[in-house]
Amino acid sequence: MDYKNILYSAENGIATITINRPKALNALNTETVSELRDLVGKIAADSEIKVVVITGSGSKSFVAGADIVEMSTKNAVEGRAFGKIGQDTFTEIENMPQPVIAAINGFALGGGCELSCACDIRYASENAKFGQPEVGLGITPGFGGTQRLPRVVGRGYGKELIFTAGMIDAQEAYRIGLVNKVVPQEELMDTVYALAKKIAKNAPIAVQLSKAAINRGINCDVITGIAYEDEVFGLCFATEDQKEGMGAFVEKRKATFTGK
Ligand code: HXC
Repeated sequence: MDYKNILYSAENGIATITINRPKALNALNTETVSELRDLVGKIAADSEIKVVVITGSGSKSFVAGADIVEMSTKNAVEGRAFGKIGQDTFTEIENMPQPVIAAINGFALGGGCELSCACDIRYASENAKFGQPEVGLGITPGFGGTQRLPRVVGRGYGKELIFTAGMIDAQEAYRIGLVNKVVPQEELMDTVYALAKKIAKNAPIAVQLSKAAINRGINCDVITGIAYEDEVFGLCFATEDQKEGMGAFVEKRKATFTGK
C-alpha cells in the first residue's frame, strides 16, 4: 500500500510514523486512518522493530482531530462506521507488541488527543495543546476518548476536558499526568529518541511481555492482573535473553540481547 498521508522510517529498531497532512493540521480523514491501520499492522509483525514513535509533520500540530470537513456530511451509519475504523485502529496501536511513544509536537485535539492516549508514553513540546472539542461540534469523542482519557488522567480531569471542549497547554497536561515530559520543540524528537533508545537496549521479549501484562491487567482486578504477570514472568525464563541478562550480571559484563 502506498501512503499518501503518512511518512514512515525505521532506524536501529526504532520506527517513526509521521501523520503528514500539514494543510489540514494533520487531521485524520478516512484515508489517513486506513493508511495508519495498514502500517501499524505491518510494524506490529516486524520483529526488527523494538519501539515505535508517532508524531505529526510540521511544527504546529500533532493531529488536530478527525477531519471535520469529511465528517460534516456523514449520516448516522457513515459517522458510526468512521468512528469504528478509528476505534479499531487505535486499539491496534494500544495493543502493538512494541512500546509506542507519542511525540506531541503541537495541537493534539479530539482524535489527536485520543491517538496520543492509545500510545504507551506521551512526550510533548512546549507549544502543544490538548483538548476534546467534540461536544462543541455536536458529537461525543469517538476514537476511544471517553474510555482512554479518563483512564490516563482520572475521571475528574477527563470529564472536565470532554464536557468543556476546552484546550489545555502542555504544562497543564503535564500537571494532570496526560504527558510524561514537556520540552522545547527543537528538543522534542531528540528527547523522544533518547527514550526510545533506552527502551530498545533492554530485552525485547521482556519489554513486550511487560506491556502486555500492564495492558491486560489495568482493566481488571489486581488478583487477575497478577495471574497475567505470573504467566509472562514464567515465560521469560524460557528465553535466551533471560540467560544472557542474568549471565551478564553474574559475569560483570554488559548484556547483549537478541530478542530470543
Ligand atoms: C479538518 C482541519 C481540522 C480538522 C484544522 N483544519 N483542523 N480540517 N478537520 N480537525 C484545517 C483548517 O480548516 C484550515 O484549513 C487548516 O487546517 C489550518 O487551520 P486553521 O484553523 O486556519 O488554523 P488556526 O487558526 O491556527 O487554528 C488551529 C485550530 C483549529 C485551533 C487547531 O484549526 C481548529 O479548531 N481545528 C479543529 C479542531 C477540532 O475541533 N478537532 C476535533 C475534531 S472532532 P484551510 O483550508 O481553511 O486552510 C474529532 C472527533 C474524533 O476529532 C472522533 C471521530 C469519530
